[in-house]
Amino acid sequence: TVHSVYPLALWLRAAFTTTAMVDYPTPANFMMNLPAYPVKEMCKIIDSFPVGADVVEKAFTAASLYYNYTGDQKCFEMEGGDDPHGLSGWGWQVKS
Ligand SMILES: *[C@@H]1O[C@H](CO)[C@@H](O)[C@H](O)[C@H]1NC(C)=O
Repeated sequence: TVHSVYPLALWLRAAFTTTAMVDYPTPANFMMNLPAYPVKEMCKIIDSFPVGADVVEKAFTAASLYYNYTGDQKCFEMEGGDDPHGLSGWGWQVKS
């Protein structure tokens, strides 16, 4: 259902808006563990994709910097099978 696309959109938006708010010149763990200048780091991630790469994939990978900078996340909660919102919109969005 269209409804299930929202968790992903909110998940991505939270990563970008929060990172923009905490774009400090030094590593920080005020909100999440982040490198210095996290916005620049996110741009580097996005720029490292080949031209024409999927925009959702780019956004997802950049958002992973925010959610998984420490690299210890086994899975993102958004993807949890028990999540009442589900993530069935993800596959739908990728395919369309
Ligand atoms: C988080 O980062 C680690 C290290 O790169 C990786 O092995 C793991 O799969 C990542 N977690 C998610 C949910 O992508």
